[in-house]
Amino acid sequence: MSESGTSDHPHLPPAYRLVVLETCDSTNSEAMRRAEEGAEDGTLIWARRQTEGRGRRGRSWQSLAGNLFFSLVLRPDCSPQQAAQLGFVAAVALGDALGSVAPPMIEVQFKWPNDVLLNNRKAAGILLESKIVDGAMEWLVLGIGVNVEAYPADLEPPATSLRFEGAPGDVTAVRMLEAFAPHFMSRVNRWLDDGFAPIRRSWLNHAYGLGEQIGVDLSHERLEGRFKDLDENGTLILELPDGGTRSIAAGDVYRIG
Ligand code: BTN
Repeated sequence: MSESGTSDHPHLPPAYRLVVLETCDSTNSEAMRRAEEGAEDGTLIWARRQTEGRGRRGRSWQSLAGNLFFSLVLRPDCSPQQAAQLGFVAAVALGDALGSVAPPMIEVQFKWPNDVLLNNRKAAGILLESKIVDGAMEWLVLGIGVNVEAYPADLEPPATSLRFEGAPGDVTAVRMLEAFAPHFMSRVNRWLDDGFAPIRRSWLNHAYGLGEQIGVDLSHERLEGRFKDLDENGTLILELPDGGTRSIAAGDVYRIG
């Protein structure tokens, strides 16, 4: 791991404490180590390269050259259940940022829980990891990976990158982070003032598979049904073939048919 003093680093609003690394194992691991050492709320670890990127549910995150990898240390004054909403806040802010830098014909969608799709293919993922002591949040690390230049070729369902979808060459990892940072601040402020409802509405406006037949992979079970709603906590409501509903807190969604 090395800290860089080069000038081609992102310029972020002063509320962020930016740490620039040439390379690290995982920006989430680095942010968690620093959170344990007392890093302040708003500490943002950005690495040009990542050797052991992690995804949700124990998966690895292929960290290809030129893509964006960063993690933010947050110390929200809220319950762990409310803190999970920050994954949706981040997804919606990423959507705002993509909307501001990507060509207008690119369709941005949110795939439950926290993926961002471009033209139906995954371009960004979000990983939340937290420390809870006696039922209270001590810290939360919000890790985001965006495929800017390249995407892994061997994924099912297939992924994509901003460049592949036609974003011009000046849309770089640095520019994406600069676009995300202020949008995230304003979305977090709205969330603090007005709660989850406005975030939920924005997310549902661009939700992948909403109202359609979907499959959901849980750790030991696979369910099929209609994606009926997102509840006030961010839980997916699946309408089952027998007319009943099931609330799902964690899993992977895929479209059927
Ligand atoms: C997912 O879709 O499964 C979440 C992927 C999150 C990847 C990012 S890249 C930056 C940060 N560091 C990690 O190791 N993971 C997150």
